[in-house]
Amino acid sequence: MIADLIIHHIKSIYTPNQKAPIKGLNMRNIQVIENGYVAIKDGVILSVGNGLYEHLIGSNTKTLDAENKIMLPAFIDSHTHLVHGGSREDEYGEIIQGIPYLDILKAGGGIHHTVNHTISATFDELYNKAYQSLDLMLKSGVSVVEAKSGYGLELKTEIKQLEVAKKLNAHHPIELHSTYMGAHAIPKRYEQHKDRYINEVISDLTIIKENDLASAVDIFCEAHVFSVEDSRKILTQAKKLGFKIKMHADEIQSLGGTSLAVNLGCSSVDHLMVINDEDIKKLSTSSTIANLLPGTSFYLNKAFAPGRKMIDQGVAVSISTDYNPGSCPTENLLLVMQIAANKMKLLPEEVLTAVTLNAAYHLGISETHGSIEVGKQANVILVNAPNLNYVFYHYGINHVSDVWIKGQQVLKNQEIVRNVR
Ligand code: NIG
Ligand code: FE
Repeated sequence: MIADLIIHHIKSIYTPNQKAPIKGLNMRNIQVIENGYVAIKDGVILSVGNGLYEHLIGSNTKTLDAENKIMLPAFIDSHTHLVHGGSREDEYGEIIQGIPYLDILKAGGGIHHTVNHTISATFDELYNKAYQSLDLMLKSGVSVVEAKSGYGLELKTEIKQLEVAKKLNAHHPIELHSTYMGAHAIPKRYEQHKDRYINEVISDLTIIKENDLASAVDIFCEAHVFSVEDSRKILTQAKKLGFKIKMHADEIQSLGGTSLAVNLGCSSVDHLMVINDEDIKKLSTSSTIANLLPGTSFYLNKAFAPGRKMIDQGVAVSISTDYNPGSCPTENLLLVMQIAANKMKLLPEEVLTAVTLNAAYHLGISETHGSIEVGKQANVILVNAPNLNYVFYHYGINHVSDVWIKGQQVLKNQEIVRNVR
């Protein structure tokens, strides 16, 4: 078969290559191909290796010299609050002085501040702001992004957020996966009537489903927000309707959310900064992915999730930014990967598996995404580094030079290539 594109003279190709989910210490077992090439046809990987590739070249085949850079699967940011209005730098002083995140929320700030700005923003304002964020993500090597609603806390604005994500998916090269998160906070209008809001969210699930606005449902299971019982109610109905389900759990206080997530069959349970040993064990025997968000611990000055312990005990881990205006105001997954390695004591190979194949698994796309293997979508990046360790060692630096999504080059020498889609 003849390739459309061959990228050759790649110093090393690093990729996970086991069946997802990849659990525990297996996360560090990745494939390394020295002096390699990748051949792409119709947006899919046709061949990868370090042998001869001349037989794949036809009269229309383009060849590209990678100039001895390294290649990785493009990254997947599987937990973001991408679409929202406004920003919260006004809270920065409070955060730095250690005013608890939940106190800011209880006082009507935090998420509520962003809700007000998201309700008042126009569709185009939300679209343009999120588009710029996606550009930043692309520059740090990201090809797939999960995007949650949850800054409307009323159906109309939740739908506006999800419609913005849908349009972004059609117009930006990054592939988006939307999650409905009406249960992100209790809206001010229901402050004394949480149950009414829960019922509203439950009935809105049907509308979200019928209009195909999201593939997953998430909830903030936390003290003074939604309890384990509230989460059970909402997620049970979501599952019944055919949504994938996931939870923000064990972020600030340990309520038992992780155990519920495993029992209900959540695809991921996210944050886990205060997870207990029993729940680590429970996760290790499940196929629920522990989606860790160390950028949030860094920004809020909180403990890091015990990622090392989880991997040592056999848990399948993914890592994401949690990009949002309140607890992790950065789109930079590469920086978050560097923080993850250093602060949770994970090896670069483990972090790579976390942001590629394991992230793909809980988004339900690991058959087509997350590794550089024949038959997979050609989502690959070239990184200007001599080896994988260097990408983490020389931290705070964006080493990503080129990105291909579905075989189309969308970043070239750190510049976005426009109009490819
Ligand atoms: O994942 N924990 C809840 N939600 C977000 C923060 C949202 C916000 O502060 O605006 C999180 O940390
Ligand atoms: Fe989050």
